[in-house]
Amino acid sequence: MKRDLGEEAVRKHYNISGTDFSVAGEASSDFKTLLKKLGIKPDIVRKVAIAMYEAEINTVVHGRGGECDAEVLDNCVKIVFTDHGPGIANVELAMQEGYSTASETIRELGFGAGMGLPNIKKYTDSMKIDTEVGKGTTVTLTVNL
Ligand SMILES: Nc1ncnc2c1ncn2[C@@H]1O[C@H](COP(=O)(O)OP(=O)(O)OP(=O)(O)O)[C@@H](O)[C@H]1O
Ligand SMILES: [Mg+2]
Repeated sequence: MKRDLGEEAVRKHYNISGTDFSVAGEASSDFKTLLKKLGIKPDIVRKVAIAMYEAEINTVVHGRGGECDAEVLDNCVKIVFTDHGPGIANVELAMQEGYSTASETIRELGFGAGMGLPNIKKYTDSMKIDTEVGKGTTVTLTVNL
């Protein structure tokens, strides 16, 4: 399907702050607006928005900030979050509902239910976590069009 915005409009790069919590969620919000403008189906937009928001918040609160590349391809929406935070020691454990290492401060902000990663899994067609303790984490997710 031909999209009416030019090539450049379907690929976005975001810097994700690890210190300014007041802008957490802005990348997901911006990309959601773009997907709507492109005429992507509402159920797809919703899935992407939920999964992207959770990954973005994790990059802020756990990953100490990082970067995000989001693009609309022919068959899917692909989003990659990269951070140079502490990494995840046990991915299988982190994927479990309710598991969270969020500090008291982060919980006071309303995060830390341990539902972000399970929800990313639920709302995407593929999800990959590449992580190394002490080096950082890359989360790649796709939602099929
Ligand atoms: N980018 C990341 N860097 C380091 N650790 C991470 C990262 N993303 C997730 N984690 C670890 O995985 C755990 C589970 O993440 P998940 O998003 O499911 O829950 P949460 O962020 O703690 O709470 P919620 O998402 O419900 O607010 C986190 O508590 C954290 O220990
Ligand atoms: Mg989370």
